[in-house]
Amino acid sequence: MQDTPPLPSFAAIVVAAGQGLRAGQPLPKQFAIWRGKPVLRHSVEILLAAGADPLVIAIPVGGENATRDALAGLDGFTLVEGGDTRQQSVARALAMIASAERILIHDAARPNLPPQVIEYLLGALEIHPGAIPVLPVVDSLSIDTDGVMSGSAPRDQLRRVQTPQAFRFSAIRDAHQAWQGDQNAGDDAQVLRAAGEQVAHVPGDERLAKLTFAEDFMAALPPIRTGMGFDVHRLSTGEELWLGGIRIEHDKGLAGHSDADVALHAIVDALLGAIGGGDIGSHFPPSDPQWKGASSDRFLTHAGRLVDEAGYFVGNIDLTIICEAPKIGPHRDAMRARIAGLLGVDIGAISVKATTTERLGLTGRGEGIAAQAVATLLRK
Ligand code: CTP
Ligand code: MG
Repeated sequence: MQDTPPLPSFAAIVVAAGQGLRAGQPLPKQFAIWRGKPVLRHSVEILLAAGADPLVIAIPVGGENATRDALAGLDGFTLVEGGDTRQQSVARALAMIASAERILIHDAARPNLPPQVIEYLLGALEIHPGAIPVLPVVDSLSIDTDGVMSGSAPRDQLRRVQTPQAFRFSAIRDAHQAWQGDQNAGDDAQVLRAAGEQVAHVPGDERLAKLTFAEDFMAALPPIRTGMGFDVHRLSTGEELWLGGIRIEHDKGLAGHSDADVALHAIVDALLGAIGGGDIGSHFPPSDPQWKGASSDRFLTHAGRLVDEAGYFVGNIDLTIICEAPKIGPHRDAMRARIAGLLGVDIGAISVKATTTERLGLTGRGEGIAAQAVATLLRK
């Protein structure tokens, strides 16, 4: 077997100086976690592994610490403050590079960069001063005027353009210098074309899709997640018994935080566990007076909302209540209906089971009631 020849040497720029406003992440999207790592780190690792030297990263004003955290343990890159537009960020990064033969210019917002695309791009530079990865347009195209179709565009000749884009260094440097500063360029290929140079198309890759909206981050989430929850509360006289979201007539009730509904608490912990969202104590601290005596319904609806915000819905919940008394069977369907109602799911998604512990242990002696729950969530 023959070794593949090494790639020709190349410099690289990664632009990461945007604000990432549309992605709705808690921090600028280039620093948000995607598939286990900060978005920016993915491209930087791939470009360094492909031999990019030098590698210049345009970062937001004040973003140096966030960048160094995101890239901890890596070296071989230089940081530069970006500008107000993407084009200005590229121009500032280009100014940091004294000389190079070839350069790749890449958006940090496209973290999944197949090495094959880099090979195609550098190959095309043997013939053309610029090269870009493109994909066909598969949908038909409609021109919108005030919400009404006012025409259509033929799609055969149209291509969707990705990054990285590859250039002979001097050609793109000169083109950026000649570019009118008040014009915003969508990408660097447009800047090179404006300078009268030719840009070749090479095959892009759907995996190179740009992370733009919150949904783009959600699509990277695992399709199924599972969480488990467990809780115990003490039985004592003079308390109401709330279990599975309903009130049950009994000679004792559960004592503890809120209404001490162990069954709902176990479900809340299962839901929080499935989204990696901490536990019931971290969301509703017993020390906070607003939750004292609160109905556990509120905990469950809140957990349901967090599940929704995390990009999931409840597939099913399996709850087991562990006690000698009261008998759960007569209340099973009322509990299922209540839990299903609170979570806005079909009753068929909720299972309520009960068992005793043969008079052994704390539940066997009637000192308390325990509950455990498993929740399965499905990606929206
Ligand atoms: N970018 C940049 N400098 C700017 C604007 C954008 O370096 N002044 C970078 C972004 O960090 C991103 C890439 O250009 O890697 C593509 O831009 P886009 O997807 O629009 O990212 P943002 O501008 O950060 O996001 P938004 O438009 O949603 O605020
Ligand atoms: Mg932008």
